[in-house]
Amino acid sequence: MRVIVCNDYDEMSKRAAKIVASQITLKPNCVLGLATGSTPIGLYDNLAEMNKLGEIDFSDVTTFNLDEYYPINLDNDQSYHYFMNEHLFTRVNIDINSTHLPNGQTDDPETECENYEKMINDAGGIDLQILGIGQNGHIGFNEPDNNLNTVTHLTGLTQSTIEANSRFFEKKEDVPTRALTMGIASILKSRKIVLLASGRTKYKVVSELLNEGINTSVPATMLKVHPDVVLICDKEAYASMYLGVDIGGTSIKFGVVDGFNNIVYKDSLPTQKDKPARAIIDNIAKACKDITSRFPVTAVGVGTPGIIDFAKKTVTAANLPFDNTPIFDWLKESINLPVYINNDANCAALGEAVAGEGAGEKDMLMITLGTGIGGGIIIDKKIYMGAKGDAGEIGHMCIETNGKPCSCGNRGCWEKYASVSALIEQTEEAVLKNPNSILANVIAKNHVVDGKTVFEAKQKGCTVADAVFEQYIEYLAVGIRNIINIFRPGAVVIAGGISEAGQALLDPLVKKVDSSVPIKISRLQNDAGIIGAALLGEKNR
Ligand code: GLP
Repeated sequence: MRVIVCNDYDEMSKRAAKIVASQITLKPNCVLGLATGSTPIGLYDNLAEMNKLGEIDFSDVTTFNLDEYYPINLDNDQSYHYFMNEHLFTRVNIDINSTHLPNGQTDDPETECENYEKMINDAGGIDLQILGIGQNGHIGFNEPDNNLNTVTHLTGLTQSTIEANSRFFEKKEDVPTRALTMGIASILKSRKIVLLASGRTKYKVVSELLNEGINTSVPATMLKVHPDVVLICDKEAYASMYLGVDIGGTSIKFGVVDGFNNIVYKDSLPTQKDKPARAIIDNIAKACKDITSRFPVTAVGVGTPGIIDFAKKTVTAANLPFDNTPIFDWLKESINLPVYINNDANCAALGEAVAGEGAGEKDMLMITLGTGIGGGIIIDKKIYMGAKGDAGEIGHMCIETNGKPCSCGNRGCWEKYASVSALIEQTEEAVLKNPNSILANVIAKNHVVDGKTVFEAKQKGCTVADAVFEQYIEYLAVGIRNIINIFRPGAVVIAGGISEAGQALLDPLVKKVDSSVPIKISRLQNDAGIIGAALLGEKNR
């Protein structure tokens, strides 16, 4: 089965209309198999428009519809006769005598079905069959059943179909409980089949259709035996939802992310980092199980701080009780879905690259300024991992030979000069030298030195703060210039708490870096990690 995923319903309808139009152009006296339901309405609108513009001619076309309620009067506005007249037949130059639907008013449904099947065969069989799909996987009115090797027949509708179709009727009791429908065997005799699916209500059945084997409990899976079927669906019907988990020092954030990279559900738990690793992971697994039972999630992605040994599938993180901890295996024990893990800074970069400031770029670099400097390198919308999975430690590039010692064992690392901790240190040093400055007053008032202190003192006209900031920006700019020279990314995105300073940070930084590569502030901020983790579940990330 070929699959074409369109952005939306309109695109899906146009794609389908082009196929039908080509069929009519190639064989003007072709036999079309048609469907009802809300899904093909856009297709019929397009065909009517093309016919009006003279692009296709229906005068020699013959049609057979899949099904009709039973019993139902042909002039009932819920009959499929009525539907087809309204949406297609009266809008195109088709000969109404060449259009066929099972007769829902017949007294003898058995003979009607036999004749209907015979008429299709006598017309030479269906060249192109259009299908919708019910939420339970039915095609036509072929409901889940043990025996699906059927031709046109009278069938009973399941409760779920009556429920789904009741939206067209005044009340549920008005929905007929039976129908005449082409059988699966009749449908499979068509030369070509176009199956349409649109909207979130079809998501579950589309993923069953694509991921499960042929089985009669999802009748549409029978189409897999046909050599020429194309499924045309929109993103809502196709795109999976993923669960993103962002493990942090204080809280663990969870988000269900849809095919448009929107977080449709959010939750969080305290990390409780004083507990053993196993208890933390068990908590995460429990929350994942609960969320995945409520949303059609197809994979779970986890962003964790620390170093991941991808060969051993273990994590070691300084700020958490993770020491060669087999997070991956523990999660897999209770989550019955694919689980993916990556470093949290990488996840945040991926999230920002796909759904935030980097969305328009193929390559992007994310710099997270915090206690240290975290980095995520995105090349071609994928995390660049390096040979062993630990690339991106940009905080440890040397910007000062014989500079300040760093916890990594080297000296002069960028994060010793340009992280928020470094800015705080530089602020404290300046205050010691200038105890009467405005900066000193601000600190005395706030009882704390943090990343915002310099910005506040600057605003109050403090020249000491100006000098600290100028020096800090110089350090930040040096590192950014270096990475721009190496990667020439489409954008450099700054994240971390200090990025809340916005233009006050960005404007002088952009000026200092003086590059054609745009430097931006993260748009997604805390959500970047969740979205990026969720995106790990998508193929090829
Ligand atoms: C009805 C029709 C099917 C159709 C299905 C889905 O039950 N018999 O042919 O595919 O509904 O309808 P919709 O496109 O409105 O979701």
